[in-house]
Amino acid sequence: MNLIIMGLPGAGKGTQAEKIIAKYNIPHISTGDMFRAAIQNETALGLEAKTYMDKGELVPDEVTNGIVKERLQESDTEKGFLLDGFPRTLVQAEALDRIMTELDKKIDAVINIDVNPEVLMQRLTGRIICRSCGATYHKTNNPTKVEGTCDRCGGHEFYQRDDDKPETVENRIQINLEQSQPIIEFYSEKGLLHTVDGEIGIDNVFTEIQKIIE
Ligand code: AP5
Ligand code: ZN
Repeated sequence: MNLIIMGLPGAGKGTQAEKIIAKYNIPHISTGDMFRAAIQNETALGLEAKTYMDKGELVPDEVTNGIVKERLQESDTEKGFLLDGFPRTLVQAEALDRIMTELDKKIDAVINIDVNPEVLMQRLTGRIICRSCGATYHKTNNPTKVEGTCDRCGGHEFYQRDDDKPETVENRIQINLEQSQPIIEFYSEKGLLHTVDGEIGIDNVFTEIQKIIE
């Protein structure tokens, strides 16, 4: 099963992706996570990506398309995959089509999580992430069960993403709003688009996503 999850920054792609990959046992391919790992490892890719990410801008298409193509050639994607945060421009969507053809694969469904842009600022500025395992929480929407302790790994340290500062968040939302409409049309014309209301609580969103997948 080859899936795409899309939505504006803070729509809940990462939160739902965690649940999808656990239930359906497919690899999670998040371009944002790949760039953040490259920044952490101080690779050339990371240095380049950082200059864009710090401003809330998109990393150039040719760079992003290249890393996705490489990743999709790895053998673990044979059982399927979940693309998260890619494609994010029409150029990327068209490139993905070509990559799929070359690899003799096809996309089965595109899940679009729909959230009103006004809600996103509160979600992103309140997001906290476990330092040890990367699990995502929200200070008020999705707190840990025991305050200050990660439900998944028991870790005690949490951080905020550099690009979750209010001024960067605004730019990210604006840029992604402009880019997302053509992608929605692109997949809707192919009959692959499934839009889910992203404001009905994390578990309810996942229930809707499972209905689409099954
Ligand atoms: P990326 O890492 O993909 O970030 P993003 O798209 O901005 O999305 P986020 O990860 O911020 O949000 P999310 O939708 O995963 O929300 P989450 O589940 O965490 O990209 C980062 C940067 O990398 C980009 O800005 C760009 O520079 C670069 N990049 C990446 N891909 C690229 C590409 N293809 N091309 C070019 N550049 C690229 O949820 C957010 C918060 O809300 C959490 O606190 C969560 O607990 C809470 N929450 C989640 N669901 C709900 C709910 N249903 N109700 C209430 N709260 C909820
Ligand atoms: Zn953890």
